[in-house]
Amino acid sequence: MLKRKWLLGVALLLVLSLVLAAGCGEAEEVVDDDDEIVITVAAGAVGMELELTRDLAEMYSAENEGVRVEVLDTPDMVEDRLGLYLQFFEAGSSEVDVYQIDVIWPGDLAEHFVDLYEHGADEVAGDHFPAIVENNTVDGRLVGIPWFTDAGLLYYRTDLLEKYDLDPPATWDDLEEAAQIIQDGERAENPDFWGFVWQGRAYEGLTCDALEWIASNDGGTIISPEGVITINNPNAIEIVDQAAGWVGTISPDGVTTMAEEESRAVWHAGNAAFMRNWPYAYATSQADDSPVKDLFDVSPLPAGRSGAGAATLGGWQLAVSQYSENPEIAADVALYMASYEGQKYRAVEGTFNPTIMDLYEDAEVLEAAPFFGSLYDVFINAVARPSTVTAPQYSAVSELFYNAVYDVLIGDTNAADAFEELEIDLMDLTGFDAE
Ligand code: GLC
Repeated sequence: MLKRKWLLGVALLLVLSLVLAAGCGEAEEVVDDDDEIVITVAAGAVGMELELTRDLAEMYSAENEGVRVEVLDTPDMVEDRLGLYLQFFEAGSSEVDVYQIDVIWPGDLAEHFVDLYEHGADEVAGDHFPAIVENNTVDGRLVGIPWFTDAGLLYYRTDLLEKYDLDPPATWDDLEEAAQIIQDGERAENPDFWGFVWQGRAYEGLTCDALEWIASNDGGTIISPEGVITINNPNAIEIVDQAAGWVGTISPDGVTTMAEEESRAVWHAGNAAFMRNWPYAYATSQADDSPVKDLFDVSPLPAGRSGAGAATLGGWQLAVSQYSENPEIAADVALYMASYEGQKYRAVEGTFNPTIMDLYEDAEVLEAAPFFGSLYDVFINAVARPSTVTAPQYSAVSELFYNAVYDVLIGDTNAADAFEELEIDLMDLTGFDAE
C-alpha cells in the first residue's frame, strides 16, 4: 500500500516536472472531452478515510452534472504528505484543487489557499467548533473548512481486563502495571503479545503522543501560547524518561518504528492489551471481520502528575488551492464534503469526529460512535500543539521535538540532556526565550 502511494507520488512529481519542462507552467482549465470539469481532492488514506472520501466525491459528482470529483490518495505520514503538497505549491500547480490539511498547517500554509469566506463559508462557519474555526483563520481569512477533529484515546481490551480482574488504568503507572500483568499472562499462549502499542517513530505522531504524556504530567506544551519555550522542565523530563522505559518491556522494541497504522495492525491482530490511537481506529476495530470486535472500549488517556489525562488535538480541514482553475466549484466541493451530511456519513461509517457541534447530538451518530457522547469532554479539551504561536516554523519546531524524544526512546540519551539541548535549538530556531 505504502509502496503504491510512493510510486503515485513519484509519478505525480514526474508529470509535474514534465509539464514545467515543456514550458506549460501556466495551468489550463481541466476540462475533458465532454467539457466536464474535474476537481481533484488530495486526501488521506488512514483507516477508512480514502473510501469514504471517494464515496462523497461520487455523491457530489452524481448530484452536480458537468463536474467530476476525483480523489488523490496521499502518503499517510504527515511529513510526507506535506512534502508532496509543497511540491505542488512550488510549481503553482492546478493539478489539485482541494487539499486535506492538518490542524497544524493553516499558519504555515495560509498563502496557498483562498479565503473560504469569499466562497460561502460565512453561512456555515458558525456551526463548527469555534476554536477550530479560529485555528483555521489566518489574518481574518478562513483558509480551511473544518472537516474532522481528532484527539488521542486509550483503547483497551475489555475481555482481558476482566480475565485479569483489572480496571481501565487511570494513571500511567496503572497502565504500566496492568500492561505487564496481561502481557505476562498472555505470553504463555501467544509469544507475539504486547502490553501497550503507540506511535514511537520519529515523526509528527510522536510529537502528539509525547505532548500527551507531558501535558498529563503538568509539563506544559513545549512552547506556551505566549511564545515561551517551556520544554526543559522536571515534569516533562520525568515522564519522557518513564515512556522510554516502556520500549522493550511493555511495548515492542519496534514501537519506535510505528506510526498509527503499524500500531493498529498489532492491536487489530489481537496482540495488544492497550493502544493509543485516534478515533478512526474505533470503526476499523468494530468492523465485522475484526478479531477485536466487541472486545474493546475507549477511555481518556491515563493521567500523570496533573491528575488528568491529556489528549492532543488533531484533525483535518479542507482548503482550496490558490492555484486552482475552478476555485468556486472547488470551494463548493469542500463545503459539501464538510457539510452536516458529509460529516455525518464519515462519523457513522468511519468514526471520524465531526467538527459540526450539532452532530454530537445526532442519534444515528451517537449510536455508531457512543464515545462521541461519553468522551465529549476529551474532544473539547484537547491540547493544541504550538503551531499558531510558531507559524510558519511549526514543522521545524516539531521535528526538533520529536527527534529529541526519539533519541531518548531509543536510549541514545536521557530526557534531561535531550531537553536541555532542545531548549537551545528551539531558541535558535524561533528567537523565543526559555522559561
Ligand atoms: C492525525 C491527526 C493529525 C496529526 C497526525 C499525526 O492524523 O489528526 O492532526 O498531525 O495524526 O500523525
